[in-house]
Amino acid sequence: MVWIDTDMGFDDILAVMMVAASSKPVAGVSLVFGNAPMDAVRANAAGAVSLLGWRFPIHTGAERAILGGVETPAHVLGPTGIPTRGRSLPQAEALPRTDALAALTAWLEGLDAPGEILALGPLTNIAILSLARPDLLSKIDSVTWMGGGATRGNHTASAEFNAFADPEAVAIVFASGISLRVADLDLCRQVLVGPEDVDVVRAVGTQKAEILADLLGAYVDIALNSGRSAMALYDPTAAAAFVAPDAFVFEDAEVTMELAGAHTRGRTIVDQRPHVKPNALWGMRADAARVRALALDALVEAARS
Ligand code: RIB
Ligand code: CA
Repeated sequence: MVWIDTDMGFDDILAVMMVAASSKPVAGVSLVFGNAPMDAVRANAAGAVSLLGWRFPIHTGAERAILGGVETPAHVLGPTGIPTRGRSLPQAEALPRTDALAALTAWLEGLDAPGEILALGPLTNIAILSLARPDLLSKIDSVTWMGGGATRGNHTASAEFNAFADPEAVAIVFASGISLRVADLDLCRQVLVGPEDVDVVRAVGTQKAEILADLLGAYVDIALNSGRSAMALYDPTAAAAFVAPDAFVFEDAEVTMELAGAHTRGRTIVDQRPHVKPNALWGMRADAARVRALALDALVEAARS
């Protein structure tokens, strides 16, 4: 059984679909602010459950960062965090507001062997867990996180969004001793999705296909609207590293989080010089064809069902 922590944008939903389609059963999901404020993240989760028939429990976590901010990419994704070319997720009944920290600690306490966590948003929930229940960190086998960027950022010139939204949480998690695998922007930029993939999903011809194609299309439009021909698959690349780690090369790195830089706050500084003290495995290479296939197969299978 595995746990997923997510800020439930479209790429998060596709990542969850990929894990749900794998041999790793999902024990639970914790929501965190990020792609949108928590109310919209909860609405997205409820809509995804309605559309995709997810049966695992989804719990509500941190609504703001460790220092209290609520940073979102609303200027790119709009108020819902999931733009569309037309159709949207179904308007569904609100999820029960069950507490994520309580649910995650209960899951960890019940494990016979350490469990894996896939983190797809700001690390606030994981940071709070590590401070509130350090005794449970030995029950975490690893956290695979989509976040950070060794070279350039996406939310700022320096910083990737999940890191920038809660840099203190990143610093806390990287200092906690938890075994971390990081799928950063540079790794995810090796795996691209484009207009032709939208056509493949729409060609399934069902109502679900129309919705998923409109959501995927709007995700691709993020790149097309800024003059690029294809969009990086962010969370799906982390999900692929989670379900198919043999499709990736990870290397030791000592990662520091910039907290104070006037222009660099939220930047991950990735040091791989000799004699560093590694605190993470950093994704260096992805088998892009394999990752794309896992993502597109999950979309087409969901569209058909
Ligand atoms: O920077 C990309 C990350 O920010 C992805 O996880 C996306 O869903 C947003 O959370
Ligand atoms: Ca995300």
